[in-house]
Amino acid sequence: MSIVLGIETSCDETGISVVQDGAVILSNEVASQIAVHAPFGGVVPEIASRHHTEIISQLTELALSEAKASPTAIAATAGPGLMGSLMVGMNFAKALAYAWELPFVPVHHIEGHIFSAFLTDDPPTFPFLTLVVSGGHTCLIQCDRPHHYVILGSTRDDAVGECFDKAARLLGLPYPGGPSIQKASEGGDPKAVKLPRGMTNEDSLEFSYSGLKTAVLYAVRENQFELADMAASFQHAAVDVLLIKTKLALRQTGAPRLVVAGGVAANRLLRERLQAELDVPVHMPPMALCVDNGAMIAAAAESLLAHGLTQGFEAVPSPSLPLVRQIPGMGDKDKATTGGSRT
Ligand SMILES: Nc1ncnc2c1ncn2[C@@H]1O[C@H](COP(=O)(O)OP(=O)(O)OP(=O)(O)O)[C@@H](O)[C@H]1O
Ligand SMILES: [Mg+2]
Repeated sequence: MSIVLGIETSCDETGISVVQDGAVILSNEVASQIAVHAPFGGVVPEIASRHHTEIISQLTELALSEAKASPTAIAATAGPGLMGSLMVGMNFAKALAYAWELPFVPVHHIEGHIFSAFLTDDPPTFPFLTLVVSGGHTCLIQCDRPHHYVILGSTRDDAVGECFDKAARLLGLPYPGGPSIQKASEGGDPKAVKLPRGMTNEDSLEFSYSGLKTAVLYAVRENQFELADMAASFQHAAVDVLLIKTKLALRQTGAPRLVVAGGVAANRLLRERLQAELDVPVHMPPMALCVDNGAMIAAAAESLLAHGLTQGFEAVPSPSLPLVRQIPGMGDKDKATTGGSRT
């Protein structure tokens, strides 16, 4: 039996979790810093790393005592993310692994998000297409076998979660923007405000969300809308793009199933429309596992260990860590990055 302690500190959530056999969550503690960063309208890196430092030790003790099991390996997010925050989690995890003489497993944050879909009663089987939609990433990834990723398209500018956050700020809604816009959209008319769907008339799997953000800025200057109508129109525009590109990728790849991961996968409209409009099975993590957490890091680590793919103690935190490993036989296309402009 394997018991992995997963530690996630890439941004503004301290996530500590204990996962058995890569599938059963024994404990999952998340300390969010949302309230701390909210007055600034976004994450302040120095404040984030300080808060991780203050809480990581007691949160780990809590997760371990709840799990009532001793870890057989310790995993932490190695990147991408904020350098100071990554350093706190990774150094803490390495120190624990060293002291307890356990393997240390560095994990790519996006690989973690993908593995959150395995923490359900209905885990996906390979091959599948993944739509990653988070605060720093928007991309479509072909996953034909474990830990083999081909990036089919990613955003050229803002990530979709970042666009939700920036639009919310323009509309005077609180951070994080995704949940605020979702709430504000209730009862709004999604056709009330005309907004662009970036790059959707091209036969490409690239995304662009900066035009949508700019359109909100211009509309705010003119101030001719009801907030609920604007929020609903924005949400539909953002989700339309994801649906259009995902359908295109499914047609192009013939992938038999879809995995959706990342914070924006918690969006109700996106979840409903993916379930209703696609003719392949859609695997989504439960809402609570969409945003950053330690369980997804532990699940990915378990699989990396099983496939002999872990870099161990040699790994160092990397704010722009590429998702694609140097596996023999991979083409240049595989080496594309997944990021938006934020990370
Ligand atoms: N219900 C929702 N609807 C839309 N967006 C949402 C919702 N809930 C959360 N989000 C968005 O998800 C993002 C946070 O997700 P996540 O924690 O995965 O991002 P991150 O870790 O900061 O970025 P990355 O994973 O790319 O490094 C924020 O941009 C937030 O606005
Ligand atoms: Mg994330």
